[in-house]
Amino acid sequence: MLKVTGLVLAAGKSIRMRSAVPKVLHEIAGRPLVSYPIEAARKAGANSIYVVVNKYNLEDFKEIPPLCKGRPGGVEKSTSPTPSLQRRGITFVTQKEARGTADAVMSARPALKNFDGYILIIPGDVPLITPDALKEFIKYVTGNGAACGVLTMELKDPSHYGRIIRDGSGRIKAIVEACDAAEEQLKITEVNSGIYCLRSPWVFEALSRVRAQNAKGEYYLTDLVGIAVGEDKPVVGLPASNPAECLGINTRQELAEAGRQMRVRILDRLMSDGVGILDPLHTYIDCDVVIESDTTIAPHTFIKGKTRIGKGSIIENGAVISDSVVGDGVTIKPYSVIDQSVIKDEAQVGPFARLRPGTVIERGARVGNFVEIKKSRLKAGAKANHLTYIGDALIGARVNVGCGTITCNYDGKNKHKTVIGDDVFVGSDVQFIAPVKIGKGAVIGAGSVITDDVPPGALAVARGKQVIKKNWRKL
Ligand code: UD1
Ligand code: MG
Repeated sequence: MLKVTGLVLAAGKSIRMRSAVPKVLHEIAGRPLVSYPIEAARKAGANSIYVVVNKYNLEDFKEIPPLCKGRPGGVEKSTSPTPSLQRRGITFVTQKEARGTADAVMSARPALKNFDGYILIIPGDVPLITPDALKEFIKYVTGNGAACGVLTMELKDPSHYGRIIRDGSGRIKAIVEACDAAEEQLKITEVNSGIYCLRSPWVFEALSRVRAQNAKGEYYLTDLVGIAVGEDKPVVGLPASNPAECLGINTRQELAEAGRQMRVRILDRLMSDGVGILDPLHTYIDCDVVIESDTTIAPHTFIKGKTRIGKGSIIENGAVISDSVVGDGVTIKPYSVIDQSVIKDEAQVGPFARLRPGTVIERGARVGNFVEIKKSRLKAGAKANHLTYIGDALIGARVNVGCGTITCNYDGKNKHKTVIGDDVFVGSDVQFIAPVKIGKGAVIGAGSVITDDVPPGALAVARGKQVIKKNWRKL
């Protein structure tokens, strides 16, 4: 079979989104739109992927998340080198001005002019397309030896999509954009998905004949179909078996709808893998999140980024967990916010806990309500159950941190560490003025302000002595 190269179009002006951010970098399920067609093309067997960007948004694309990793190295030379991305198996080409989809494809001509094979073109704003649909489409086009293949879709409401014009025997004659279509043509319900499989190098020679004579004054890629028909080249159109996958995102409303559909897909996959989702309509899990079986997720939870959750854990309502690792048998109680932290097996966090980056909660440790922890480790079995701030600290195994404890880690210029040994008992309302070390098994009296190190096994009490003056007031 001939080689297939993916070409994702992402240089458009995004006018309808009314946003300073390029449309295809808007996110659904934790990833930018453009990353989905890139991944789908790769999984469908595209040997290499080109992405057309414009000179204004090229910089934004450099920050594209790791999804674009793919196969390292070995990618063709780019006309606009962005080395970090090339390493991820993607080559960027720049379209000078957004003059239409045909012009966008033409900007890949210098890179692909000698390519003998098929170019799979996907708009960067079609995030729901699946590798299976693309595979089926490529097979159909290449199997028919077509020069030009279009993935079409039957829609009840064809709205702004380009209409597919077929002749009496069902052969595709042309695609007409909605804004250029006659009233009769607007009634056609078979529309253009914007996904094509085109024979290279023929496509570039044919595209050089496209003219911008239409309502928008743009170079339309859709004109290629008419050109191919005029040249007697074989043209085929395959109606997508699931048109919903071809939803193109042009507005905020469509972005929200695609996000909803993506969530349905993600939650369905997780449930099939044995994860309990109590209310799929109100659960928000990003597509790169991994969750093992028998974990239960309550509603109004947001699980984001690269989070991994083990088996048999419970994530209660309102939890927001980002880029964290949660072990087996963990309970995250309601309204806890957890970011870039590690929570090991059997630990318990919340309700209303905040774990900031760099927190590690070891096996069986407990963090209760209104506790904030930053860049600190609570060793196995330690407890900080109420109203506490722990920052830049190491809390030993089985330590009890009393209610209202504060590690005073910041002196206005630098951060300092608090180290508390195993089995220490910290009474309520203690302040540790860091840097400070508490030896193993020490006891810290309630209300103490600890400024000096405490030896192992010692009792430290550092507070004003109670004074009693009898008969102070007349009763
Ligand atoms: C396009 C199709 C339409 C189809 C629809 C499917 C054309 C003329 N129309 O319309 O038939 O039904 O997709 O979603 O092709 N882009 C560039 N450079 C440009 C213009 C666009 O890279 O100069 C990119 C955009 O970033 C976008 C993609 O091409 O990712 C499609 O462009 P868009 O403006 O969304 O086209 P539609 O109006 O949706
Ligand atoms: Mg579009």
